[in-house]
Amino acid sequence: MYSSVVGGIILEPAMMVVPVDDHMVHRGHGVFDTAMLLDGCLYELDAHLERFLRSAAKARIDTAPFPRDALRRILVQMTAASGCRKGSLRYWLSAGPGDFLLSSKGCPSPAFYAVVIAADYDQCRDGVRAVTSSVPMKPPLFATMKNVNYLPNVLSIMDAEDRGAWASVWVDDQGNVAEGPMVNVAFVTPGRELVLPAFDKILGGCTAKRLLALAPRLVDSGLLTGVATRDIAVDEAKRSLEMAFVGSGLPVLPVVQWDGEPVGDGKVGSLMLALSDLLWEDMKSGPDRVAVPYNN
Ligand SMILES: Cc1ncc(COP(=O)(O)O)c(C=O)c1O
Repeated sequence: MYSSVVGGIILEPAMMVVPVDDHMVHRGHGVFDTAMLLDGCLYELDAHLERFLRSAAKARIDTAPFPRDALRRILVQMTAASGCRKGSLRYWLSAGPGDFLLSSKGCPSPAFYAVVIAADYDQCRDGVRAVTSSVPMKPPLFATMKNVNYLPNVLSIMDAEDRGAWASVWVDDQGNVAEGPMVNVAFVTPGRELVLPAFDKILGGCTAKRLLALAPRLVDSGLLTGVATRDIAVDEAKRSLEMAFVGSGLPVLPVVQWDGEPVGDGKVGSLMLALSDLLWEDMKSGPDRVAVPYNN
């Protein structure tokens, strides 16, 4: 763990703590992000850091003491110190420790915390079930910044698990598909167009954006007819040929059933698998990887 309150990297688990008077702990005034670690390389670290700092600005957390390059250096050094080569990094910016009041005026300095989480994961190739969430979705201001108030997301995935699904899908009050509780969603239409809901009311997923950058290769090879972000009504989405959850570590997880009905023919589709291969290859050997300088 790294803690700016301690001022360094901590290797002793008992010391990996966040102060209880931190505004993030007692008022939820904090933002976070997660970057994947694969084969000793950090994937798309800069894209995640940029979103992290955008989230902090929206949450009115002073980022001046933590320039992007300093955060990046700390995260790389912490990963090297951990010796971990596969898993993820999670990191938080908070208004910092203070006086327990609602306003952050009594929190003199923001705080930065980060942890390395060892985990084994692989490219997902099996299909899963989805359900429409019964938990209300967050309004755009809160959904577009990755802040620590994930209670709606937690309740939504618990609801999905109770209903035998891998995750839920939020539908907005206009009847358009939004996102899942920790993933974006993607569809292949009957005309073989890849469509993702626009990012104006949901989190701009780093994986989804990378998918949108890579997918035109499948248009060039004739597998897809186009790639777009736009509103997609739930009725149209349910008539898709293929559907998938998209997010860090998956990177594309085919959805074969939604609200008890098959998606397309109810089997894992070849187009989502082809998109998954593109992203997995990008994670393994693409240009946006930072090699961690381990000592051994
Ligand atoms: C609500 C929400 N939507 C989408 C995503 C997918 O984002 P990413 O691809 O950056 O992991 C996440 C995960 O961070 C999330 O929490």
